[in-house]
Amino acid sequence: WPLVAREVEAIERLKRERNAVVLGHNYQAPEIFNTVADIVGDSLALAREAVTVDADVIVMAGVHFMAETAKLLNPSKTVLIPDSKAGCSLAESITAEDIRLLRKHYPGVPVVTYVNTSAEVKAESDYCCTSGNAVKVVRHVAKEWGVNRILMLPDEYLARNVQKDVPEIELIAWKGHCEVHERFTPQDIRDLREAHPGVIVLAHPECPPEVVAEADYAGSTAGMADYVRDEKPARVVLITECSMADNVAVDHPDVEFVRPCNLCPHMRRITLPAIRRALETMTTQVEIDPAVAGRARLAVERMLAIR
Ligand code: 13P
Ligand code: SF4
Repeated sequence: WPLVAREVEAIERLKRERNAVVLGHNYQAPEIFNTVADIVGDSLALAREAVTVDADVIVMAGVHFMAETAKLLNPSKTVLIPDSKAGCSLAESITAEDIRLLRKHYPGVPVVTYVNTSAEVKAESDYCCTSGNAVKVVRHVAKEWGVNRILMLPDEYLARNVQKDVPEIELIAWKGHCEVHERFTPQDIRDLREAHPGVIVLAHPECPPEVVAEADYAGSTAGMADYVRDEKPARVVLITECSMADNVAVDHPDVEFVRPCNLCPHMRRITLPAIRRALETMTTQVEIDPAVAGRARLAVERMLAIR
């Protein structure tokens, strides 16, 4: 802890000197989430908050696509990612060229891409969505465009989970998967229920649909945190990245958290020393080709306009 305190103190001083804010995703480790992060949330909240931030510098305590989204929405600000290798298996699963080919194959079919993608992929998309608003976005697009088919990329499981809520729309999926959530199985959930009677199971929609089918609730990282706040289950398990339970547990000492542990190796690259170094050296700055940024921003802004 003295080491943590020293790092936190140094980061707070650098934040003041640089006029910087730290945005922290719900999967960040508690020593970041509960200390230096000024704004925390799911990827939708971080995108929304990025627009309102009044600072010269934004440090993204999250993964690269989240930093890119913050930069798209704040082109004149400096956006830092403390480790440029903090990627995402979903963002890796599809390229801009893949989308161009899909468009040729499905002419006139709108493209909705998950925010867990590169700026180049967003630039080829009509709309973005997050796990927190995916159903709303596809319903909106179907109505606006007068279509009943949408390409929903690249997370196969998110598309299949959303499909259950919009049977009137055909969602065409891709084969991308989150390396953390794809590891959960329906048997894991049955085993957890047997070992922890009465446990309430909350799952992220990046999990396979067979896993979501075994859960009591599925929603974004913020959706799961809100469920615990509102329903106050006596015993709960979050079927998602396991740092999340540590963060939610801080606010709910009366709730028993059962903790299977799947860590996201990309999120874990962000550490207090990495944040301190980013602010000291002002690296790594996120830059996006202006030709790409304009079109990518449009897809994100169209999403944010849907309430
Ligand atoms: P949320 O948008 O639910 O925070 O999810 C982001 C993510 O990367 C989940 O794996
Ligand atoms: Fe990407 Fe999965 Fe990590 Fe989220 S948990 S950042 S979707 S690899």
